[in-house]
Amino acid sequence: MIDTLVRENIRTLKPYRSARDDFDSGILLDANENSYGAPFQNDSELHRYPMPYQEQLREKIAAYRNVSLENVFVGVGSDEAIDLLFRIFCEPGKDCVIINPPTYGMYKVSATINDVIVDEILMTENFMLQPDKIMEAVRPETKLIFICSPNNPTANSVNSNDIITLLENFDGIVVVDEAYIDFSIQKSFAGQLAKFPNLVVLQTLSKAFGLAGIRLGIAFSSPQIIEYMMKVKAPYNINKLTTKKALLAFKNTAQVQRNIKAILDERNRIAATLNKVDMIEKVFPSDANFLLFRIKDAYSVYQKLAKLGVIVRYRGNEPHCENCLRLTIGTPEQNNVFLEKLIQVLNS
Ligand SMILES: Cc1ncc(COP(=O)(O)O)c(C=O)c1O
Repeated sequence: MIDTLVRENIRTLKPYRSARDDFDSGILLDANENSYGAPFQNDSELHRYPMPYQEQLREKIAAYRNVSLENVFVGVGSDEAIDLLFRIFCEPGKDCVIINPPTYGMYKVSATINDVIVDEILMTENFMLQPDKIMEAVRPETKLIFICSPNNPTANSVNSNDIITLLENFDGIVVVDEAYIDFSIQKSFAGQLAKFPNLVVLQTLSKAFGLAGIRLGIAFSSPQIIEYMMKVKAPYNINKLTTKKALLAFKNTAQVQRNIKAILDERNRIAATLNKVDMIEKVFPSDANFLLFRIKDAYSVYQKLAKLGVIVRYRGNEPHCENCLRLTIGTPEQNNVFLEKLIQVLNS
């Protein structure tokens, strides 16, 4: 079934064969690298290309998430995985995808870059999916449905039964973006790969792992889809410095867990405090490391906060998000400054 969804040119693509596909040891004079080395001391063999398929890192991720190596793709942020999915499944100028606004902006941007038509089925006012409406909107050209859970910018998780309904009824690929899953009380859909060959789960080291700077995104899917992603990606997409730091992170997962706990404690403290502020109409339930709240004159509050050096995100232009600001949970000190400046702005 997957093969029939894939674009003809990708199905028949002969992928680039890198020098490292043939040999990876010996006197390596096959890749036009510079054997004289980098212009500074380094311990990472930076004059050599990185491993094309990143087995060691993918093994670590697979073990951590309880899946197999063949279920794991690593990319330059989840943004690379999103782009690859369009390039693998969507014929430019012809095929469509469904997204559920308000949601993460890159799905639409990446679709547009790839000349893919975007059908938008709004979430309800409580930020829940509308699976019936989504299924009604499916056309023969609809190849992908993007679900974000926990959702950015609304912070809530969607109903997992709604996701299952789509996985069971949609004859294309359902992409579940779990960038914030480690902050969530919901279980990852990565555990459901065996049941749903049309499922792609996206995760990232940018959030709970605190490594946005190294650009490491992950896709979990059936071996068939992962194989297509491997075929289409740039041969050496993940660089050696990124791999080194990512491997180090998987040696320090106890610290990741401590940071998650601290962020969740802070999120609950800030939510409780915001709930007591008169001008704040609503603090939406959060299952992530940020809060969405509705406040009178949100745009003006946002600008005044920025003048005082506290930057939050104005989301008031998103559907169902009138007068909404999105606050990423910081350290206790940062959060206290935010609260202090917010009160200052509201009393001015
Ligand atoms: C829902 C969602 N998916 C993906 C990303 C991007 O992840 P990455 O840094 O891995 O590209 C973000 C970043 O804000 C996000 O909110």
